[in-house]
Amino acid sequence: MNAHLDSLDTRTLRIGALQLENALLLAPMEGYSDQPFRRICRRLGADLVYTEFTSSEGLVRLAGRTASKIALAEDERPVGIQIYGRDAGRMALAARRAAENEPDLLDINFGCPARKVCGGGAGSQLMREPELLLEVAGAVARAVELPVTVKMRLGWDEGSRNAVELALRLQDLGIRALTIHGRTRCQKFEGEADWDGIAEVKRAVEIPVIGNGDVKSPRDALRLFLHTGVDAVMIGRAAIHYPWIFRETREFLRTGTPSAPPDLAERVALLRGHLDLALAHKGEHRAVLEMRKMYAAYLRDYPGIRSLRMELMALDEAPAVRARLERLQEEVAGLDTGDSAAAGWTPAAAAS
Ligand SMILES: Cc1cc2nc3c(=O)[nH]c(=O)nc-3n(C[C@H](O)[C@H](O)[C@H](O)COP(=O)(O)O)c2cc1C
Repeated sequence: MNAHLDSLDTRTLRIGALQLENALLLAPMEGYSDQPFRRICRRLGADLVYTEFTSSEGLVRLAGRTASKIALAEDERPVGIQIYGRDAGRMALAARRAAENEPDLLDINFGCPARKVCGGGAGSQLMREPELLLEVAGAVARAVELPVTVKMRLGWDEGSRNAVELALRLQDLGIRALTIHGRTRCQKFEGEADWDGIAEVKRAVEIPVIGNGDVKSPRDALRLFLHTGVDAVMIGRAAIHYPWIFRETREFLRTGTPSAPPDLAERVALLRGHLDLALAHKGEHRAVLEMRKMYAAYLRDYPGIRSLRMELMALDEAPAVRARLERLQEEVAGLDTGDSAAAGWTPAAAAS
């Protein structure tokens, strides 16, 4: 074990009945952290996962895909449902509706920079309206018995960073943990996440702080723990392309060496498993469409990825996709040597 790893004391994330050590969390991500993907990430070592954000209006009216977005499977627990909105009364109603599905916690999104959320005055827009943000958070915290947490950024822009001030007031309102994405709203996803900003929040409050932003490898996760003192680390984009990051990071934090990356057979097996979970959760049409965005990532480095992907993209029916993946599984069984590094499947995400 190396010296840096030795200096990571066990961090225990306590939120309500949850107690997780050196926890790695799957970030809420619209379009990705759906039930099938959350279950996969839990199996691969994520300690806690979050739903995609869900609007208070969708929840109150249970409109569109809301019911499917907040449907929870037993094997994905512990799980948080994330909600957003700017009307305190509607948010309280939405919180009660979400609580009926018995998540382990409810998270409020005050960090989303997307126009469709901010444009409606929610998400990170509320960081510019602190009194309203606090009213919404207080109303949600009072509405449910579940622990309520908040995810936010460092502020709206460089000139108006207010995460520390808000964190203190949210703590006073009974918010049980904070996730800080180390960017301002105006940075969107550009530049590097500012981990010093996360550390400032961690120093200021007593409730747990979860650090988020730019963790792309096991070593990044360790660095974020050590740099900021946070109680847990949340991973977003790197997990979309490589959910094995949880398994590797867990092993790295424990032993100093990440577990071996998956070989191609495991990648194909996971793709097949993901398809089956998606079919069960979303039905054939949506499952087949939505799996298309996963092929390139799951099969990265497969020698014939381009033509294989085009072939898969042209298939509209699940049995045909399944059959093609079964053939692929047979093919790669002959390719893999059992030594994934030798087979050349070492993913960049695992490189430290
Ligand atoms: C495709 C995508 C969708 C996202 N959707 C949400 C969301 O629904 N709720 C939320 O709080 N953050 C959302 N985020 C932000 C992530 O949760 C996370 O804060 C951000 O990606 C930074 O972490 P990372 O550097 O590990 O990706 C989203 C990010 C991406 C890339």
